[in-house]
Amino acid sequence: MTEIKNAACVGGGVIGGAWVARFALAGIDVKIFDPHPEAERIIGEVMANAERAYAMLTMAPLPPKGKLTFCKSIEETLKDADWIQESVPERLELKRGVITQIDAAARPDALIGSSTSGLLPSDLQAEMKHPGRMFVAHPYNPVYLLPLVELVGGKKTSKATIERAMQGVEQIGMKGVVIAKEIEAFVGDRLLEALWREALWLIQDDICDTETLDNVMRYSFGMRWAQMGLFETYRIAGGEAGMRHFLAQFGPCLKWPWTKFTDVVDLDDALVEKIGAQSDAQAAGRSIRELERIRDENLVGIMHALKSGNGGEGWGAGKLLADFEAKLWANAKKPEADLGDVKPLHILDTKVSAAWVDYNGHMTEHRYLQVFGDTSDGLLRLIGVDLEYVRDGHSYYTVETHIRNLGEAKLGDALYSTCQLLSSDEKRLHLFSTIYNAATKEAVATAEQMMLHVDSKAGKAVAAPAKVLDKLKAITEAHAGLPTPEGAGRFVGQKR
Ligand SMILES: NC(=O)c1ccc[n+]([C@@H]2O[C@H](COP(=O)([O-])OP(=O)(O)OC[C@H]3O[C@@H](n4cnc5c(N)ncnc54)[C@H](O)[C@@H]3O)[C@@H](O)[C@H]2O)c1
Repeated sequence: MTEIKNAACVGGGVIGGAWVARFALAGIDVKIFDPHPEAERIIGEVMANAERAYAMLTMAPLPPKGKLTFCKSIEETLKDADWIQESVPERLELKRGVITQIDAAARPDALIGSSTSGLLPSDLQAEMKHPGRMFVAHPYNPVYLLPLVELVGGKKTSKATIERAMQGVEQIGMKGVVIAKEIEAFVGDRLLEALWREALWLIQDDICDTETLDNVMRYSFGMRWAQMGLFETYRIAGGEAGMRHFLAQFGPCLKWPWTKFTDVVDLDDALVEKIGAQSDAQAAGRSIRELERIRDENLVGIMHALKSGNGGEGWGAGKLLADFEAKLWANAKKPEADLGDVKPLHILDTKVSAAWVDYNGHMTEHRYLQVFGDTSDGLLRLIGVDLEYVRDGHSYYTVETHIRNLGEAKLGDALYSTCQLLSSDEKRLHLFSTIYNAATKEAVATAEQMMLHVDSKAGKAVAAPAKVLDKLKAITEAHAGLPTPEGAGRFVGQKR
């Protein structure tokens, strides 16, 4: 089993910088070499966007962030590195030179991945002394959010290297796919190039403008692709007769053909200006960083949706996220309730992220329930009801919630939540949680909840086992001495 403890990134532009964020947020120390005078500032900005995105993406306990070190030479960068990722500009001679330099200085067992979008790994490894450990690891932008990496071996890449690379990308929450044979541009960029080629003709011939073309994609098949790809989507499009029927029905059209596939549009100055102007109008003054943040929020939302797809089991990129989160929880230190100085338990620290605010700029209603849900999940983990426990067939279900909104939480506000157990018995757990503004210590909202211990398969309430009840009892008894919180037992419409 390959474990990446230290990573090195050679080249820290759009892609290299986002690889840095992907490694660092998975708890891996990263050394960086990029001669660009502003590399540190640029990577700092990418890290900030990535951290913002992860705060929205997951409540699972991320490992402590890896340390970033900016180095003055390639050699210095590679010391200790288990995984070296090359992301310098896409020019064969430059890349081959850099990879040969990496090869001479890297530990013999270090993995060397190239981010190239289309060059053949056999060409890149041609001058290496130890080419067996070199491969293409082609990611998609933003690398810190989009999970795919195409792994492509060259003629001299060993099978063991690709296997180790698969384990490495899994460790950082990515989905490795092994491309069986090396070809220029691999699989993803071949498909993208085909689509782009056609799109440029449609603009050139004034069939539509860039905004219309993007709308055609994002309001329709873009959504289908994100969750099922091409072939499974077409299987469904074939109706009950499935894929064979689809091929019989639409296959012959390919010979007409509708598209201009084999011709390449002439990207002369006039066309570049036309596309540039349409694209400027489409961006409506939004900066690239602003567009990146919108993109990240949307990608997080899509992954969340996919996480609850397939009857809650998760699907595609969402299932991958759920599996990654399960590992993060399993690796986290098992929490213990601190009953030393008896007070309501401090459960959660969080921040109001951009995706949580409504048109008033305040945390929107359902996010309060989310934070209270995360708070009761935190309490459950303290009594041993974690993901493993739930997988084994038992859980606590919330049967009643009463939320009071007392203040306003605004974008970026730091919040924390506490939880007090009002009572518990074999099946029931009655709790009172409060969300506070961390800066002012003012209560922003409270929730009183009743939860029932259930046998999930049977779908009925059953007594919790002794190992859970013992922990629950210890907290309930400690909390029995606390004053009843203000607002406990209130009902909707009750006079203050
Ligand atoms: N941009 C994308 O969407 C994308 C997606 C997947 C893969 N890629 C691939 O990733 C690689 C990098 O592309 P990018 O978009 O990040 O380009 P970029 O121009 O944003 O970044 C390249 C970086 O490499 C640095 N650099 C140049 N020479 C160097 C050297 N000798 N040693 C170390 N650093 C050096 C530059 O200063 C720059 O910061 C390319 O191979 C590209 O095909 C790009």
